[in-house]
Amino acid sequence: MIRSWLEKARWDKAPTGKGPRGWLYLLGDQDAKLIQRIVNQHAMNWQKPDLLKSPRDLLQFTGKSGPVWILRQRKKASAVSHSGLLEESPYTFFRDGVGAMVASWKAMGLAQVACELHGTNAEQELGTFTGLEIASYHFRDEQADQSLKGLPLMWIKTARGKVNRALVKQAQARGAAVNLARHLVNLPPNHLHPGSYASMVKGTKWAAGMKVEVWDTKRLKKEGMGLLLGVGQGAENPPCMIHLRWRPKGSSSRKPIAFVGKGITFDSGGLDLKPASGMRLMKKDMGGSAAVMGIARWVSDSNYPHPVDFYLAVAENAVDSRAFRPSDILIARNGARVEIDNTDAEGRLVLADALDVAITQKGADEPEAVIDIATLTGAIKVGLGAEIAGLFSNDDALADAINRAGTKAGDLSWRMPLAERYWASMSSPFADFKNSASDGFGGAITAALFLARFVKTKSWVHLDIYAWTDKSSGALLSSGGSGQSVQNLIEWLESRD
Ligand code: BES
Ligand code: ZN
Ligand code: ZN
Repeated sequence: MIRSWLEKARWDKAPTGKGPRGWLYLLGDQDAKLIQRIVNQHAMNWQKPDLLKSPRDLLQFTGKSGPVWILRQRKKASAVSHSGLLEESPYTFFRDGVGAMVASWKAMGLAQVACELHGTNAEQELGTFTGLEIASYHFRDEQADQSLKGLPLMWIKTARGKVNRALVKQAQARGAAVNLARHLVNLPPNHLHPGSYASMVKGTKWAAGMKVEVWDTKRLKKEGMGLLLGVGQGAENPPCMIHLRWRPKGSSSRKPIAFVGKGITFDSGGLDLKPASGMRLMKKDMGGSAAVMGIARWVSDSNYPHPVDFYLAVAENAVDSRAFRPSDILIARNGARVEIDNTDAEGRLVLADALDVAITQKGADEPEAVIDIATLTGAIKVGLGAEIAGLFSNDDALADAINRAGTKAGDLSWRMPLAERYWASMSSPFADFKNSASDGFGGAITAALFLARFVKTKSWVHLDIYAWTDKSSGALLSSGGSGQSVQNLIEWLESRD
């Protein structure tokens, strides 16, 4: 269960309770007079001159009645333009600024924080509230995963009128989505395996408004999904495909968006076994499917007005006498014959069959666009690092829209070339093609080219993500699942009319 910290906050009031208290002032813009007033109220005389001169975004000091934070956003000239895609958005500035403060509040053992918003706009407030929700997550135990223990009681008010509670609701939905994706990644692979994943999704309360279907091995065989079956055949827990279907009441003129997530609950590499260091984090190899679940939760919580489908391709890539082998030939749902070059290139295999299910839906269920999310290659993290997703697409407008949404939501994606000329390295003398390239060059590109074979001409975006953070960064205070691409795609869904 993912709990909301904001659920407990007090609104439009100054604190009345006892206990050590902190003060947080959030300023939408530079307001010298206001800063002077706050500093006069809290600071000791000797502190004042330095505070008033400070050029920093964040003023922090311990004043007469406890610690004070003043966070203000100022326009910064960015050194490199990148068409604006690397600018820090107002949402991001407040989300990460406020989120990072939560760590100090916990460390100081503050019982309450009085937060005042001055001149902030909707985007800045959404960032603030979402940052608080994201920062409150901490993996404790699996059921009551976050007890919200050690977090102060928040008193939140604005200088003008009342706090916009609709925005608070939106932030709660975003926070729950990101934290769900993080939590699923954090669950250990002996507890989250294909079978338990499927029962968990079937049992989730928030999914009550969706149709949930699990395709077991029997159904996968009937559907001819030889790639997903092949990857999962070595594991104690058999593979499955989970489908959540969202069809909101009321009319929508739009066709569904289909999200497809890689859900490898543990990637040992298979017979092409990973070395110890490369295997260490491989419980996160279902991070794409976790992001898809996070988005599904948001769609449900915010009653998204358009239809959406969510497909999770779930398997464990295990080592066993029954495991698939290099040189095996597997037959995909779309009929393609794939020679296994490397059993560690399993993600593209499970995704390929699920993508085929998504694109072959007919009539009103035929998707407008398909978006897959996957911890697909080690190559992409070398190029883009842990915080920027590699975006591959056959649709320029869709790719641009998602990149823009990523910048706005502080959850970046970056377009990579879907360069057909590299496809030649995937040719096989025995089958239609192989699942990995012999030379290993351009690994993220060849993986994307493999997926492209299965989406054909359908509008499509593939996000190659890392899904993990090793350190506290912005509003993410604990290492573990990062919820990468959840905020990006929520922002994009919201931007569709
Ligand atoms: N799950 C891994 C990719 C991965 C590795 C993501 C490390 C994040 C961090 C994937 O299944 C894999 O092993 N890919 C191989 C493909 C190769 C064998 C063609 C890779 O990227 O090395
Ligand atoms: Zn692998
Ligand atoms: Zn993998």
